Amino acid sequence: MAPYSNFKVGAALETVDGLIITGCNIENASYGLTVCAERVAMFKALSDGHRAFVRLAVVADTETPTTPCGACRQVLWEFAPDLAIVLANLTATTSHHPPRELLPHPFGGRSWHR
Ligand code: THU
Repeated sequence: MAPYSNFKVGAALETVDGLIITGCNIENASYGLTVCAERVAMFKALSDGHRAFVRLAVVADTETPTTPCGACRQVLWEFAPDLAIVLANLTATTSHHPPRELLPHPFGGRSWHR
């Protein structure tokens, strides 16, 4: 759902059980409340009780692959730091670094637990 940017992104998240949970970007009139496809897929999966993931595909109709934004990197790092990320356009796929590498020096729960 991308009525404002018209930039449509799809994500497919694979759980350890081989289940595929999809997401698309969902935009909002306030713009700032837009949620990317990656986080929609992850939040759907978490809400359904899934906790272990192996792979994430991110697809957009672009010349060069679309890589997760900073907010998505933080969420992906927290729930699946070693996730294999596959970036694709409509003709080709490339593999990419896991969240652990995409987000060096992350903020995590241990940062504020005493
Ligand atoms: N977007 C995603 O869904 N995933 C990305 O990795 C990059 C950006 C969305 C957010 C917004 O709806 C649109 O693309 C333009 O930024």
